[in-house]
Amino acid sequence: MKYIPIFGLLFASWTLAAQQVPYWYNATHERRIDSLLDIMTLEEKVGQMTLFTSDWAVTGPTIREGYQDDIRTGRLGAIFNAHTADYNRNLQRMAVEETRLGIPLLFGYDVIHGYRTIFPIPLGETASWNLEAAEEAARIAGRESAAAGLHWTYAPMVDIARDPRWGRVMEGSGEDVYLGKKMAAARVRGFQGEDLSDPLTILACAKHFAAYGAAQAGRDYNTVDISERVLRETYLPPFKAALDAGVATFMTSFNEVDGVPATGNHHLLTDILRDEWGFMGFVVTDYTSINEMIPHGVAADSAQAGLLAVKAGVDMDMQGAVFYEKLAGQVRSGEVPMARVDDAVRRILRMKYALGLFDDPYRYSDTEREAQNILTEANREASRRIARQSLVLLKNENDALPLNAERGRILVTGPLADSQADMLGAWHGDGRAEDCITLLTGIRDAASDGAEVTYVADMAEAVRSARRADIIVVAAGETWEMSGEAASRADITLPGDQEDRIRQLAATGKPVVVVLFNGRPLALPGVDSVASAILEAWFPGTEAGHAVADVLFGDYNPAGRLPMTFPRSLGQVPLYYDAKNTGRPRDENNKYTSKYLDESNDPLYPFGYGLSYTTFEYGTPSLASATVNRNDTVTVTVDVTNSGDRDGATVVQLYVQDVVGSVTRPLRELKGFERIELAAGETRTVTFHLTNDDLSFYRQDMTYGTEPGEYRLYVGGDSRAANPLTLTLE
Ligand code: BGC
Repeated sequence: MKYIPIFGLLFASWTLAAQQVPYWYNATHERRIDSLLDIMTLEEKVGQMTLFTSDWAVTGPTIREGYQDDIRTGRLGAIFNAHTADYNRNLQRMAVEETRLGIPLLFGYDVIHGYRTIFPIPLGETASWNLEAAEEAARIAGRESAAAGLHWTYAPMVDIARDPRWGRVMEGSGEDVYLGKKMAAARVRGFQGEDLSDPLTILACAKHFAAYGAAQAGRDYNTVDISERVLRETYLPPFKAALDAGVATFMTSFNEVDGVPATGNHHLLTDILRDEWGFMGFVVTDYTSINEMIPHGVAADSAQAGLLAVKAGVDMDMQGAVFYEKLAGQVRSGEVPMARVDDAVRRILRMKYALGLFDDPYRYSDTEREAQNILTEANREASRRIARQSLVLLKNENDALPLNAERGRILVTGPLADSQADMLGAWHGDGRAEDCITLLTGIRDAASDGAEVTYVADMAEAVRSARRADIIVVAAGETWEMSGEAASRADITLPGDQEDRIRQLAATGKPVVVVLFNGRPLALPGVDSVASAILEAWFPGTEAGHAVADVLFGDYNPAGRLPMTFPRSLGQVPLYYDAKNTGRPRDENNKYTSKYLDESNDPLYPFGYGLSYTTFEYGTPSLASATVNRNDTVTVTVDVTNSGDRDGATVVQLYVQDVVGSVTRPLRELKGFERIELAAGETRTVTFHLTNDDLSFYRQDMTYGTEPGEYRLYVGGDSRAANPLTLTLE
């Protein structure tokens, strides 16, 4: 492991004696940055701290009037929403050839689940519980983006989310801290690769720092009020995991944390991110979030808001033009130390150097490489492969699935059955509807061997046609705009009359298979009670219809597992598996216990749940040693057998409960998982190793570590695994 001494130039509050160096840190670059800082004017420095969007119009991209002048005068160092190799080359030329110092521009974009080849939405991809798949999807997205002239994606979004009303749950990895950490790291590795100067990799950005997912009532941008303990135990760990994986940048969040908006939050951006964690990349704000500190009510005007942001540790102002307008004056008046500005600029230039832009500013602007890398057959194939792993079979009564491709009459209906645009989901980069395979196309392609496929778009009419069908496939759910940013819903049932129509279809007596396309957990008891089968497909991306048909017809045995609890009704929200017991845990025979008069406490489908076309049996798990010391590794093994007659994959999950602590502990927490493929009849022994860190938490005095005592370990196929092992930590 390499360590470096403190740099004199870093902002004063960085007091740690030594930091672990990220792989993109390079001492030669630091010396070049020293020289550059010596000759930059204050305005040029502020320019590096400024990020503006391009106006990407229907007819093509244009930078807003006047922004070209800002590029030419060195007052704009980064641009987002401008893409394609050719277009960005022209902007880059202005920066490199027409400015005094020729510092290259940095191009950013929201490449969240694909650039042009679209992968499942991140929540869906997480349902694969396949870290290699998440890494591969990010790698391909990064490669396509880099080939299209981009340097930087605003992903991964690593916000833990426990309220399905919040539309942005689709962008993240769901409710769980452990799974969220693993997915965050995998995606950072995928986007950034091992060498940032490789022209097919891009910078990643861990967002939104922090606790954005805790918006009250699931209403986007709403107030967050959580304890420091919850912040550190639930919301921060995926960010730390992204940092440990080498993430180059962080984005602040729109919300407040303990009364202070994240963008002006010194505790988050400096005390934790820099001083505790030693982050060496740069921090960008979210879109105009400096300006938004005025309506938040912590700044009277943009000058004050800018001061709060820069002093808290913001390095780059996204779109707000506050640094652009105010910062130089504030440095001249002594309100902002030059050292803080130099620190921010150093961090930004560090990433431009790491990308190799100072060696060749046009290295990402190769139109031939662009043509070779975008929407290739191999990328589409990867999208299909990953999409089918993201599908979760929620119900399959009487083996309604898989369908028979060779005979029978399949009636396809529902508002999403033939919609190309909806398959992309929100935040689809440069993904295009015309590239997408709909469910109807997928089913027709798969059934070309003999089954008869009829499509009736209107569900009311489909009820009338049902008599002539052997089985009905309904594509239900939300349109793509119903989740994502600014897309919270106060009702999480199926929109419109879809549930009624599904009931009417089921009332015909024909088996109904519901395929759901949606960006959040939905409340589905009314569907669950009538449908024969339910397949959660999320928004699967470019190859949607093929991927779903692969599962419907049994060419692929579904193995997805829910990354978020599906409640029975909105009244239970927030509902998540790693809850506390309370002092009055539910007792059906005792009124004065924690429960509802009119609803169960249980979810409809729990976290970690998903069915297969085969069955898996778990042997009795065992511990290598039932008593361990603090520094011992805990080893748990379990035999898992595919007891059915089809090959398939399952996700073996390990949950831990710390029975008595100095503070209350969750009833169980995921601490290990392994996705395994088993041939029919095959048995495999799965081994988990728990370290001291896996058993650690923030104790009552807020120190992080373990406490001696008893732990319960649950191993099984979802978060309801029973029959725990007992472990004693001495
Ligand atoms: C979103 C960010 C996004 C940014 C740039 C904001 O509105 O919250 O997630 O990266 O816009 O498009």
